[in-house]
Formats: sequence, structure tokens, C-alpha cells
Amino acid sequence: MAKVAVLGYGTVGSGVVDVLDQNAAEVSGSAGEKIELKYILDLREFPGDRHESQVVHDIDIILNDPEVEVICETMGGLEPAFSFAKKALEKGKSVCTSNKELVAAHGPELVELAKKNGKSYLFEASVGGGIPLLRTINDSMKHEKIDSITGILNGTTNYILTKMDKEGMGFATVLKAAQDKGYAEKNPEADVEGYDACRKIAILASLMSGKHVNYEDIYTEGISRVSIEDFDYARCLGMSIKLLAMCKRSDSGFFTMVSPFLIPNENPLANVNGVFNAINIHSNMLGDVMFYGKGAGKNATASAVVADVIDIVKHKNQHIDVNMKAEKAILSPKDSAVRQFFVRVPSTLKEQANDIFGDTIEEVSGVNVHGEYAFITRDLSEKDFEEKLWKMDSVKGYLRIY
Ligand code: HSE
Repeated sequence: MAKVAVLGYGTVGSGVVDVLDQNAAEVSGSAGEKIELKYILDLREFPGDRHESQVVHDIDIILNDPEVEVICETMGGLEPAFSFAKKALEKGKSVCTSNKELVAAHGPELVELAKKNGKSYLFEASVGGGIPLLRTINDSMKHEKIDSITGILNGTTNYILTKMDKEGMGFATVLKAAQDKGYAEKNPEADVEGYDACRKIAILASLMSGKHVNYEDIYTEGISRVSIEDFDYARCLGMSIKLLAMCKRSDSGFFTMVSPFLIPNENPLANVNGVFNAINIHSNMLGDVMFYGKGAGKNATASAVVADVIDIVKHKNQHIDVNMKAEKAILSPKDSAVRQFFVRVPSTLKEQANDIFGDTIEEVSGVNVHGEYAFITRDLSEKDFEEKLWKMDSVKGYLRIY
């Protein structure tokens, strides 16, 4: 019998309890022994809840109970989650979490602490919600040399972009509708500005490099400057617009970025709609592999947390290696990345654009947007592109092309 405590009885925490209840036979069968919930830590009371008697308000009750072997940290945020996870590992308990902020900020330290204590720190649910992604990277693909990971890692922004594309609604209108329906947070900044996707790709990039990619070093742009006119052009080009998070191995290090991209419709990522997430991994022997599924939501995320619980119980008193070290990964500079760009300028600046960007630019016509000249550049480095953009008297918008 293995006893579990859940820290935080919110959306994900209550989902974990539901999975443990509803799939009790499957969970225990998979782990090879009975898994039982012992405590739920939360500041609140839950009168009438079927687990009311298991709710405690003091972390020490859990930390000092030798019966508790696994702790599911589903609190979110840095503190007190960080202190609780550290103390739990120091007390010889394994920890699993859905907390991407904490993993992105302190993952290597917590993995190291787990290793020191012969326990595990697992975080399957922190990226891609319920998609079994990290275990696949850490286990089934451990022998592969992964050279790129590219994904749609944020459900909220993908929902917004899909609505803008399919229903022609503006960014602000869709965001408001998404908030009214509870899809988007009241404070949507972390999703909309790309910070959430940034933390998730930092975790994936760390696993890919076997070192630590600091999320603060990742160039990040969100979707707030994407307009419905951009989608008009995208349709005309046979493309879609998606917020991509990427990590690519290069000779000079790992290139990481979060940004909206125009993607040709032939690319499966262009057809990932609504709140779904999708991740493409390319490795040297396997080639391309795609993961698709619910990147958020109570049950999907909770299922991933419980998968970690089962893994831990199956490997009692053994550290499960997750290939994330404190040593900093070498990142290649954004400036040197080369790609084509799509640019919109006032039509009066057509001549200036041709002068600055050169004569190999390709005009994008056939779109009913008045007073604009839109074009696709030749391959340019990010640095060259930025310098040219600054020389323009006015720019209405631009997008990177994937
Ligand atoms: N806000 C996140 C998203 C939740 O929209 O994808 C899951 O991490």
C-alpha cells in the first residue's frame, strides 16, 4: 500500500483525487500495489466533500507522516510550492507536480535534491497537460539524439487564434469571449504574452539538452499584435498563424524561441485548432514524431500527475532519472537565426520597402486590405531583418514564417 498526499485542492488537485477515486482499480493495478489518498493540503475547508476528513492545513502533518510516500504538488506558483517540495524531498518523499512555473525556475535543483535522497521529482503534467510527452522523451526516446522540438504549448492562445481565423473575430473580442466562458484567465497576460509557452519550452529544452535552459533567456513574443488582417493574408498564402515554441539544436548551441509564426497548411501544426496542444519532435533515428491532445483541463492534467504517482510507486526507493541538470545549456543567439518574414507596410512605402529589403521580395496580393503593401522577404537573419525593419518609416505588422 502506498499513501499519497495532494497539495492544493483546486482544479488539478481535485482532478488528481478524482482519478485516484474513479480509476482506483486501474491505478493500483498499474502500480502493482494499492495507492491510497491520505491527505489533502489546502487553506480552505471543504464541508460536505467526500474527502473532507482528509483535508489538513498544516504541511508538517504530511511531512512528518512516515506513511506518506508520494506528494502531488498541484498548488501552482513558486511559493510555498518550492519550499514544500524541497522539504518533502529532504524528508525522503517523492514529489510529482503540474507546476510549470516551479519546474522552469527550480527544476534542476529539485531533481538534484531528489537524486541525493534516492527519491524522484517528476513533472509530466507541467508541459502539454495530459499528453504523455516527458516520459516519452525521458524513456522511449532516451537513446535518440533529439535535434528539434516545436510545439503549440498553450491552449488559450491557440483557442484565440483559431477563433480569429475561423470566425474573423478580432483579438480583443475573442479574448473577452474566452474569459466570459472561463477558457482564458481573468489576467490573461501569462498566456497571451507567451510566458506560459516560454516556461514549457524551457522545460522541454532542458530535457532535450540534458542541462538547464533558463526561461528568462528565451526570446518570447505573444499573440497580442496578431490581427484579423494577418489571417486574411495567411489564408491567401495557404497558411495559418500559430504561437510556436521551439528549441533547435545547432552547431552554436540550442536555439529557443516563442513567437507567432505563419505556417504552411501542409504542416500538421497548422491544423491544430482550439484548446488542443501539439508537439513535433525530430530526432536522428526516429525522424519526426507528433504528439496531440489536451494541453490543459482538470482531468487531462490530473491523469498525467497520476501517471507520475504510478511511476514513483513502481520505482520505490529509486531515483527516476529525468535528464535535467543544473549546468546551463549553451543557447545560440537569436540574431543569427535565418528565415523568411512576412511584412505589411502602408502602400505609399512600397518603393522604400523594395529599396530596403531588396528586389527578391515577393508581393502578397489578392487580399482585400486597403492601402497596404504586403510582401515576403528572402531568407534573412533575425538581425538583418530587424535592422531593415527599423529603416522603414512605418510598418503595419510582420510575422515570422516557419
Ligand atoms: N493556461 C494554460 C494553457 C493552461 O492555456 O495552455 C495549461 O498549462
